[in-house]
Amino acid sequence: MPKKPVEEKIAGNFTHKHILSLDQFDTKSLDILFKTTEKIIQRINQNKPLDTLAGKIISLLFFEPSSRTFSSFSSAAKKIGAQTVEYQNMTQTSSVVKGESLEDTVHTFESYSDMVIMRHPEIGSVNRAASVSSIPVINAGDGGGEHPTQTLLDLFTIYKKFYRLDNLTGVMGGDPLHSRTIRSLAKGLSLYKKNILYFLSPKELRLSSELVTEIRSTGTKVVEIHDEKDIPATAHFWYWNRIQKERFKNKADADRAAGKFIVTLKLLQKKGNKHMIIMDPLPRVDEIAVEVDHDPRAMYFAQMKNGWYVRMALLSLIFGEKL
Ligand code: NCD
Repeated sequence: MPKKPVEEKIAGNFTHKHILSLDQFDTKSLDILFKTTEKIIQRINQNKPLDTLAGKIISLLFFEPSSRTFSSFSSAAKKIGAQTVEYQNMTQTSSVVKGESLEDTVHTFESYSDMVIMRHPEIGSVNRAASVSSIPVINAGDGGGEHPTQTLLDLFTIYKKFYRLDNLTGVMGGDPLHSRTIRSLAKGLSLYKKNILYFLSPKELRLSSELVTEIRSTGTKVVEIHDEKDIPATAHFWYWNRIQKERFKNKADADRAAGKFIVTLKLLQKKGNKHMIIMDPLPRVDEIAVEVDHDPRAMYFAQMKNGWYVRMALLSLIFGEKL
């Protein structure tokens, strides 16, 4: 893909493109993805085999820990006929240990596969990888940067519940400063009209002012709150994410920030409503009490399952398979 901008707009056509940021998306492209996802769900529910990616090989290169993103991509790829080359501990088991550069690592895996899916602790690193890659690269999380495919499944989950992605009020709680899933979801929801996004966090973990400005410039309303009492009663969804301890410069600050805002049945009774859903990209640490799991509004496990379907759809579309 030389010469094309690395974050090329999707604009309705996913074929052979990198997936690096929500900045590449528009509502039409998301619509195509969700329709493809629905078709995949239907095919799976009817027990019809899918082999859209037969003959393709996908490399999963993970430099950071992962359960869901890694295994859902791995399983999604195989479910639709692809095979995978998998590294869960790149920094310990690959030539990176010997000092190989990210660029040379990409050249290695582009020789043996048709796509690279990469997670890396440094912001911008996956873009760097994509800029030297002749095969599509998917950002599976770049440090505190973005996590676009998580947002695709988050948006799909909200859409499945409300049949729309505009005119919604959401509360995003936890660590907006470091949470790449909150950052990407905020960008995703700002593609739609009349959304109101509340960010609940300790003051020192508020969303970066650049991102607040960017989101507001789309017409999306941003309200930053630092006290549970300011949670609006009208929210359609609560999206909680753990304090991202590994992204703090100093451990004491992370410990101080932890445990401040926890979703409990009591909080739901005080500030929730009947129609809302509760989301979390997971892993859960302590930000949602286990007692909430049995509440019908708890959507986080279904959300996780949606990731499998959405990733099958995304992989198919990147390889030009419309279904
Ligand atoms: C998230 C991530 O890695 O950013 N998890 C995920 O991909 N499902 C959230 C997190 O680690 O807190």
